[in-house]
Amino acid sequence: MSDRPPVLMFDSGIGGLTVLREARVLMPDRPFVYVADDAAFPYGAWEEPALKTHILGLFADLLDRFKPEISVIACNTASTLVIEALRETFPGHPFVGTVPAIKPAAERTRSGLVSVLATPGTVKRQYTRDLIHQWASKCHVRLVGSNRLAGLAEIYMRDGFVDEAAVRAEIAPCFIEQDGRRTDIVVLACTHYPFIANRMRKTAPWPVDWLDPAEAIARRAHSLIADGKTAPCEDPLSNGPDRAVFTSGRTDFATRRLMQGFGLAIA
Ligand code: DGL
Repeated sequence: MSDRPPVLMFDSGIGGLTVLREARVLMPDRPFVYVADDAAFPYGAWEEPALKTHILGLFADLLDRFKPEISVIACNTASTLVIEALRETFPGHPFVGTVPAIKPAAERTRSGLVSVLATPGTVKRQYTRDLIHQWASKCHVRLVGSNRLAGLAEIYMRDGFVDEAAVRAEIAPCFIEQDGRRTDIVVLACTHYPFIANRMRKTAPWPVDWLDPAEAIARRAHSLIADGKTAPCEDPLSNGPDRAVFTSGRTDFATRRLMQGFGLAIA
């Protein structure tokens, strides 16, 4: 185990685990603390000012408690709202954000029809609109806000059950046919969605490229801490197994089993 401070991985729920698993491949010797703000899940339904205040308050505690080397906001709904405010509020602490992979989608599409599948929060963010304006002005980008998919992924990861009819209905608006062209890329702009990507493939009306940015996020985090110039660890618990924190303070059996499967001890 490393004697360096942990990498803090943050999401509203279990979606950030899709980023954690990639991060571990690149940084096998690093300790990780996974924080699920389950008390506030789902973020997609929150009003912006309240969510911003909530996350900034939470981070004041998390940085103090875990003294991480870097924090990865493995949540599009949070990053698109608060990443700049986090950097301003906690200068000197590196934050890696997760924002919709609109640039790579625009570079890769052949039909020019791209859909961004996200929470209702991410879809309405100015940040998301700006990304489209900046990188995808030559494409037709459809924003699809889903109320249910993050919750469906939470259920799937705990209970192994997916309501396929619901998945089909939620992803259906992503698929457009226009002048003989079809949507060929769907951006998975919520970190929960890769967990149910197989069900999306199965229920999609035609094959598309499902863009999951998890590996790119992990690479970014790795690049920021790869130089080894960090302070020694001040947290005596960091030499144990990786830890998971649930802000509700309550974890049921299925959640504990899931965390165990990911090699995370509930802190
Ligand atoms: N995993 C989060 C994201 O990437 C969202 C889930 C939620 O609605 O809280 O956007």
